[in-house]
Amino acid sequence: MRTVLLNCGPIAHLDHGGEVPMVGSLVEEVENLVSDCGGIVIRDNTIECIAESSELASEYLTGGIGEHNAPSLIQTGADTTVWNISGRAVTPGFVDSHTHLLWAGDRSREVMWRQRGLSYSEIAEMGGGISHTVFSTRAAMDQEILELGRQRMETALHYGTTMMEVKSGYGLDTESELRLLRGAKELSQVEGLPNLDLTWLGAHAAPPSTGTMSADNNLQSYVEEILSEQLPAVLEQGLARSGDVFCEPGWFTIDQTEEICSAGRAGGLEIRLHVDEFCDGGGMGLASELAATTADHAHHSPLDSRLDAKKSGTLQGFLLGTPHVMGDSMPPVNSCVENDIAFTIATDFNPNCQTLSMPFIGSLAVQRCGIDPLTALVAATRNPATGIVRDDGLEQGVLKGGAVANLNILKTNSWESWCLQPGVSPIHSTFISGKPAGIEKT
Ligand code: NIG
Ligand code: FE
Repeated sequence: MRTVLLNCGPIAHLDHGGEVPMVGSLVEEVENLVSDCGGIVIRDNTIECIAESSELASEYLTGGIGEHNAPSLIQTGADTTVWNISGRAVTPGFVDSHTHLLWAGDRSREVMWRQRGLSYSEIAEMGGGISHTVFSTRAAMDQEILELGRQRMETALHYGTTMMEVKSGYGLDTESELRLLRGAKELSQVEGLPNLDLTWLGAHAAPPSTGTMSADNNLQSYVEEILSEQLPAVLEQGLARSGDVFCEPGWFTIDQTEEICSAGRAGGLEIRLHVDEFCDGGGMGLASELAATTADHAHHSPLDSRLDAKKSGTLQGFLLGTPHVMGDSMPPVNSCVENDIAFTIATDFNPNCQTLSMPFIGSLAVQRCGIDPLTALVAATRNPATGIVRDDGLEQGVLKGGAVANLNILKTNSWESWCLQPGVSPIHSTFISGKPAGIEKT
């Protein structure tokens, strides 16, 4: 089946023919990364080519293109369908490389605790934070977790996300962690929703304490359980492509993180880490030593560790929604731009940071951190795609011949508008694997 998109506005294809991930400010490269040729041909689930709209019209269109105010299907046939995109801009589908998709419950009460001066750690010590969500998630039925996950994937799609990394981490015992990963695997089979890439985050926190051990003993005995029981079960059941650890003073230590990552890697998992969220705890340094695929939060990492991580090929991920909801300052994203360090932006969707909107995160990058819209778009698509391998091996986060046909049609004719409407979705419609998945009417 062939789908032809004619009369597109600017196509931010992001294919410069050079190295990925891309580094530095990319705004000078607009001419190389955005095309005004207006036409895209999709063959089944893959982009066949990007070409002049008028040439494609003479090849595929039997009648006239017509006058349309909004993207419209203008020709259907057994082999070929043709759309008039009516001048709207096109981008790759967003790749949200850090989400905690599956959990149940509510943590709204914590906002007032924070406003009264309690820190994230103090709330956790009082039994709030991750522990609170672990109780509500364990208590939820499988069906409820699946339904929440499905609704959240629909929301992500509404905001133009076509691929999401999904972590477990609110089970914190072997059976509960496996249950979340099995749920994510089931959701990954649903057609017409974002594709999922699964990460085991059993080392998210100590499980809620029985009250019989000190916090440190509780954490160390949980690490032993992870190594002897939980990780082997995850590996045996093939439930995750990567493993993650919350490496932060007060949570998993550098030594514990290293031990868990080494065991995970020996079992074939890629390493993704939560590091330096609240202070420089040495997490970015460890990520570079381990040559982790990603090191996220990276808020307080020192420049020398960032430069080491650059050498080891670790992508640094800025989760800008989290400091936004916590009332913290934004991380130094610009220092990555200035030092040619590859970085990504992602939602970190979790009970404490409930956004699934990559355009909103793009707005924080552009309108709060001073990153240009093209560099931010690359950080939301092409760069995170380098850290996520699709099962079918197709490239994503870029629009070029041979890449998967995951793309967004925007509501306006300017590609920059992808990140300039923070409270609403700038997306008119989304194609996943060459098929229209989310179509709006405006
Ligand atoms: O990435 N900081 C660690 N984990 C999550 C938040 C978990 C929670 O507060 O429930 C994060 O922000
Ligand atoms: Fe996270």
